[in-house]
Amino acid sequence: MVSAQATAAAPDTGPLIGHRGVAALAPENTLASLALASALGLGWVEFDVRLSRDGHPVLFHDDRLERTTDGRGRVAEHDLAALQRLDAGRRFPPPYRGERIPTLAEALQLLAELGLGINVELKPDPARETETARTAMQTLASCWPESLPVPIVSSFRPRALAVAQRAAPGYQHALLVDGVPRDWRRRLEALGATAVHANARRLSSRLTAEVVGDGVPLRAYTVNAPGLARRLFSWGVDAVFTDDPGPLAGVVAGRVA
Ligand code: G3P
Ligand code: MG
Repeated sequence: MVSAQATAAAPDTGPLIGHRGVAALAPENTLASLALASALGLGWVEFDVRLSRDGHPVLFHDDRLERTTDGRGRVAEHDLAALQRLDAGRRFPPPYRGERIPTLAEALQLLAELGLGINVELKPDPARETETARTAMQTLASCWPESLPVPIVSSFRPRALAVAQRAAPGYQHALLVDGVPRDWRRRLEALGATAVHANARRLSSRLTAEVVGDGVPLRAYTVNAPGLARRLFSWGVDAVFTDDPGPLAGVVAGRVA
């Protein structure tokens, strides 16, 4: 068993976690996508957080604006006010066209009203890992009600995760990786993390058994195909991040939601 420095017990997310809200059904990382995840019966959502130029945490996945908005350039080159004028729903039909990039505070307010559990994935620019983690944890501390499950905080960037762990040791922290590294136990210990979030396509039954056999929750991204979900759950994966829970409904029927 890996010793856990975090104080909170591992939350039961249920088998399905909405990915960027429900990214296949509504514009990713928008309030509409978070609300739809809840309406579809999901109890937990994952979303990505990075900073505007003037230091405000917003929900956004990419480093750049082009794929998901009508803006150009890097998120970090724009102040919050400019980001809030962009259309983050342009790839979707009405009513989603015109959706805005939400601030972390706006998203937390909505999710708290909906009673959802949250996985905050920190996506810092390399030079702003500490600032991103500190600012996001400050926002969580002031906006997230204690009555809801403690947030899960994850990041591909070890420094950001370490800063978040120090700032909010009562939260759950997850090592976010592509493939599970051989030294995953050492990395968990070093970061005070208590769960592993890994690329579903890089997992094996042996690796899954190694992690969950140590009592460490293992959650896999991004899973939209029932066959893959079924295989992962048969290996012992605890939960999967999905862009669309519909096709997976039959796989998780009967599991605790
Ligand atoms: O946090 C799980 C998953 O979202 C990580 O990958 O690129 O979709 O943020 P990405
Ligand atoms: Mg993510």
